[in-house]
Amino acid sequence: MSLKIDSLLIHGGKDGDETTGAVTVPVYQTSTYKQDGLGRTRGWEYSRTGNPTRDALEKLIADLEEGSYGFAFASGLAAINTVLSLFKAGDKLILSDNVYGGTFRILDNVFQNFGITYEIVNTADLDEVEASLLKHDKGSKGKNLKKAAEDESIKAIYIETPANPLLTVTDIAAVAEIAHRHNKLLIVDNTFLTPYIQKPLTLGADIVLHSGTKYLGGHSDTVSGLAVVKDKALADRLYYLQNAIGGVLAPWDSFLVIRGIKTLGVRMDRHQKNAGKIAKWLEKSGFVSKVYYPGLTSDPGYEIQKKQATGAGAMISFVLNDEYDYRKFFESLKLITLAESLGGVESLVCHPASMTHAAIPADIRKKVGIVDELIRLSVGIEDADDLIADLKQAIKASHKEKTQPDKNTSKITGKKVR
Ligand SMILES: Cc1ncc(COP(=O)(O)O)c(C=O)c1O
Repeated sequence: MSLKIDSLLIHGGKDGDETTGAVTVPVYQTSTYKQDGLGRTRGWEYSRTGNPTRDALEKLIADLEEGSYGFAFASGLAAINTVLSLFKAGDKLILSDNVYGGTFRILDNVFQNFGITYEIVNTADLDEVEASLLKHDKGSKGKNLKKAAEDESIKAIYIETPANPLLTVTDIAAVAEIAHRHNKLLIVDNTFLTPYIQKPLTLGADIVLHSGTKYLGGHSDTVSGLAVVKDKALADRLYYLQNAIGGVLAPWDSFLVIRGIKTLGVRMDRHQKNAGKIAKWLEKSGFVSKVYYPGLTSDPGYEIQKKQATGAGAMISFVLNDEYDYRKFFESLKLITLAESLGGVESLVCHPASMTHAAIPADIRKKVGIVDELIRLSVGIEDADDLIADLKQAIKASHKEKTQPDKNTSKITGKKVR
């Protein structure tokens, strides 16, 4: 029976425990399994290789993303690490100019040491994507593309959409078409939206990634990562790498993510409703110079977002007007918590330049628009009016005249200057 997403969230994957009839998949807290004789297992050998609780989550995420094979890892970065291990020295990736700082860091500071390189591209601009796949013609648009030779060292395009932290929207189907025409893979980090809102594999992506730590787990109580593919050969290689590298998700955390996923639909509906209200309020408030949220009709990604997803998610970034001090704003919040991470039931706010994206060198951050004043808000499921009231009082409290900064204090570092 083919189920819709709301039913799949509850009944997808394994739907309970076949052995005992337990309605909830149990936590199979075991490292190893009895074998009935040499080479005679009951389907399970060792929990790095396979564990029934993790397997239930892997089947569930595969169902939700409309893929065929799912993989669960100890963190989003462990998932990314394993997917990047598909490549070898000499290979190159095209990377969205806006990605989670840790994704940039692992490519820049880990995989690059093994000869796997990357090129940063604004993947929202399809001409730039096309141009980046060609040799001798980097950065050119239009006319010269036909003449240029393909860069064979490029093996994949890696995107986030909407991207962290500027919520830039990339057209997944269009980039998939370009990638496949050039025989490259398309990898999409779907953390910000989850399959409840967007399903990259159905739009042509080859690999979908998640930090399960965020909306899928949903309660800021576990760290996890997931990957999903459709293709059997890709799945076989990923399974090999998952076991060989060993960054697997533990049974208890697999249970927590399955439990989180059961309420994903109702949470995302509320997250999005709140985010829409807050983004509109921010835009009209007169307090901000910029709001990034692809659910606003004024956002450059609005139309593509509408085309490829059922909503815009619940991540908003914004920059306060000059008369407000963003440092003081963070300190003045009473309900919204200043913390790393996102996607939990509680609203969290962060300062990308010094927190989630600190691993990206300042010059690159500046080039891609991650300014020091940028504030990222993960809208929770509290009452939207309470959240707006908290934002309002914190912004007002951060007014520079009120805070009367010492003339000898640097506006940038907050430190005393001589
Ligand atoms: C979009 C995105 N992808 C991946 C990750 C990494 O996930 P984790 O922190 O679970 O390793 C994060 C973490 O913030 C993220 O925001």
